[in-house]
Amino acid sequence: MDTPLTIKRIHHVEFIVGNALQAAYFYRKTFGFNQTGYLGPETGHPGCASYVLEQDRIRLVFTTPLSHEDPRNVFLLLHSDGVKDISFEVDDVDASYQEAVRRGAASALAPKDLQDENGRVRVAAVRTFGDVIHTFVSTRGFKGSFLPGYHPTQVEGEDLGFTRIDHIVANVEDRQMDRWCDYYARVFGFHQFVSYDDKDISTEFSALRSKVMANETRNIKLPINEPAAGKNKSQIQEYIDFNYSAGVQHIALYTPDILTTVRKLRKNGINFLTIPKSYYDGVWDRVGDIKEDREQIRKHNILVDRDENGYLLQIFTKPVQNRPTLFLEVIQRAGCESFGKGNFKALFQSIELEQKRRGNL
Ligand code: FE2
Repeated sequence: MDTPLTIKRIHHVEFIVGNALQAAYFYRKTFGFNQTGYLGPETGHPGCASYVLEQDRIRLVFTTPLSHEDPRNVFLLLHSDGVKDISFEVDDVDASYQEAVRRGAASALAPKDLQDENGRVRVAAVRTFGDVIHTFVSTRGFKGSFLPGYHPTQVEGEDLGFTRIDHIVANVEDRQMDRWCDYYARVFGFHQFVSYDDKDISTEFSALRSKVMANETRNIKLPINEPAAGKNKSQIQEYIDFNYSAGVQHIALYTPDILTTVRKLRKNGINFLTIPKSYYDGVWDRVGDIKEDREQIRKHNILVDRDENGYLLQIFTKPVQNRPTLFLEVIQRAGCESFGKGNFKALFQSIELEQKRRGNL
């Protein structure tokens, strides 16, 4: 029997952006999403324009507020384009909301119905780190493709092979990591999956600490980072400074064939962090055999790591907007369930190079 608050899966991730028309075009043309839904003045919703993008099990929504009075403008003023809502699918929205609030979550939206000709969907929301919220959704019995008010559209993207969200990472303020981990454990019943301290994730210059929280079935993994003291400014602190508060640092998208996906992303104009050439000197001794072509992995600057269960391949984009805030990760796993601990140092060094170029180190 489910407890009153069982988070089943991520229903969608909603971004608030300055220009949803162009953001949707960007993610369709670069990351290969299909545009499958639209809500806006033309569909009877004069207050905003929202585009739904899908690829296999990944669903992203890009929303721009249209009126000056819309409080979502404050989000844009403070944070610029970024993730506002990691929406959780649950069985019973009212029970989940009441239980979350009883366990200490702050309400963002009391339960209400969304309705159109395809039926009714119950939603409610609670706040989390920064200005991010978790909307509880149950679409059982709803006949539409996404949520009430959205009209189906079919604008095909070139499928890049992404199948699901692997993890979503939060950056929180100094000394706030444990508080937010406790929040996810206490309110949503998440458990700690793994933890990394500043000895794992540091260079000579900067550092961070990280703990990974996961729901019961582990189909939602949420690493939470905080800055740690170093000689120079932590990349997490740079994020906090530019985002004005805690927020979503990166979304990792899973592909079963990272080489094909990354080749296409590069062709589509996506810029990735470059890794010091020396990274590949010792990497094969460290991780051993992999099925993929080592030369291609090196050529595309893909990082490799191994734990006792297998290996993973991963690569990180540069920030996907002008502020050095949100970026994306592309990840392929072969058994390995970890997050690339062996790559943290190399990754940090390349982020420091970027921080230096931005004058923020
Ligand atoms: Fe990641």
